[in-house]
Amino acid sequence: MLQIALGLLALSAFAGFLALCLEAADAYFADYGECRVNINRGEKELVAEGGGNLLSVLTDQRIFIPSACGGRGSCGLCKIKVLEGAGPLLPTETPYLDPEEIANNVRLSCQVKLRNDVKIEIPPELFLIKEYKVRVAGIRDLTPDTKEFRFQLLDPGAISFKAGQYLQVNIPEYEGCDEPVYRAYSIASPESKPEEVTLVVTKVPEGIATTYLHDLLEEGSEITLNGPYGDFYLGESDRDVFMIATGSGLAPIMSLLYKIADEGIQRKTTVIFGDRTRNDLFYIEELEELGQRIPSLEIITTLSRPVEEDRWNGRKGRVTDVLKDRLESGENTEVYVCGNPAMVEAVEKLALESGVPRDRIFYDKYA
Ligand SMILES: Cc1cc2nc3c(=O)[nH]c(=O)nc-3n(C[C@H](O)[C@H](O)[C@H](O)COP(=O)(O)OP(=O)(O)OC[C@H]3O[C@@H](n4cnc5c(N)ncnc54)[C@H](O)[C@@H]3O)c2cc1C
Ligand code: FES
Repeated sequence: MLQIALGLLALSAFAGFLALCLEAADAYFADYGECRVNINRGEKELVAEGGGNLLSVLTDQRIFIPSACGGRGSCGLCKIKVLEGAGPLLPTETPYLDPEEIANNVRLSCQVKLRNDVKIEIPPELFLIKEYKVRVAGIRDLTPDTKEFRFQLLDPGAISFKAGQYLQVNIPEYEGCDEPVYRAYSIASPESKPEEVTLVVTKVPEGIATTYLHDLLEEGSEITLNGPYGDFYLGESDRDVFMIATGSGLAPIMSLLYKIADEGIQRKTTVIFGDRTRNDLFYIEELEELGQRIPSLEIITTLSRPVEEDRWNGRKGRVTDVLKDRLESGENTEVYVCGNPAMVEAVEKLALESGVPRDRIFYDKYA
């Protein structure tokens, strides 16, 4: 029995080694020459050197596809349709594609290598996404691991976006990051201030982008952003709104609340903002000010693990505990939820159980 197990182990190690060798040989020796990328049935065509992945080929041509993981196949955002020339579906793609998407030739563009001519289809609105040169106008500590970054737009000098959308930050090469990467960050500032954008970034230990932003980026430095992306924005209706956030998931909620205040939108709005301890909460004053400006707004902050020095007399428990108490019926309700994937999934489940239809639950998972 032990011999069989050892044999299998050796065989899979050998197969893994072989796959690595093939990958390395492909990277160093394969020459695919120039390949044509036909976009949206001939609307646009570009020629690129084969060998790279479709996501970077398109990015090099200033066609920006949403991506939050920098092409590592772990965010599932970079979906496009590849009608011809993609090669077989890879195991790295299948977790992010449902059967309907697979049947419709949807692929993760970061996983599809350009080895020959391809025909692809991308949503026309992605052609509108622009790159913005920005200067860091201010950096502020919000909590021990979360900073606020204010960027002044230089070129172009203003951005048009919908409150709730996100941008991609281009992280340049630095020691520990040997090629530029892109990461997604939600806009926290109001639509009504298009010449400046604010992002809220929580440090991830060893994280490529957050290490750069927290430890290396300085006031006055210039970087590039692109966007805006996403469909996490306020729909036109008069339904009641529940907005739920943990940690930096509060960023797009702030932008949505500024919109509600600026435009005098009269929808009953409940914000549930939670984290572990008092030290993890931020934008409390800003939320109070918004509370003054929006008569129909109720803000509930909750701590899941308050410590003694917090002297916390407010609500205790998770955001889902508060939502369970407050969400009586889903009939006339929209839910906007943002933060870590486990919390977003728990809120989605709860909202569905309470009768909120799936198409009235909007979310961004910060994976
Ligand atoms: C639509 C969208 C909007 C987003 N908006 C924001 C935002 O406004 N503010 C914000 O701070 N983040 C936001 N994120 C997350 C952000 O894009 C990055 O994933 C995050 O900052 C980590 O990047 P990194 O390069 O530092 O870490 P990476 O180098 O990508 O990751 C390093 C390691 O940490 C793990 N990891 C990655 N993210 C997390 C995490 N959040 N918690 C714990 N472990 C993690 C990875 O699996 C990996 O093992 C958003 C994500 C999406 C998809
Ligand atoms: S860019 Fe994240 S999966 Fe492709």
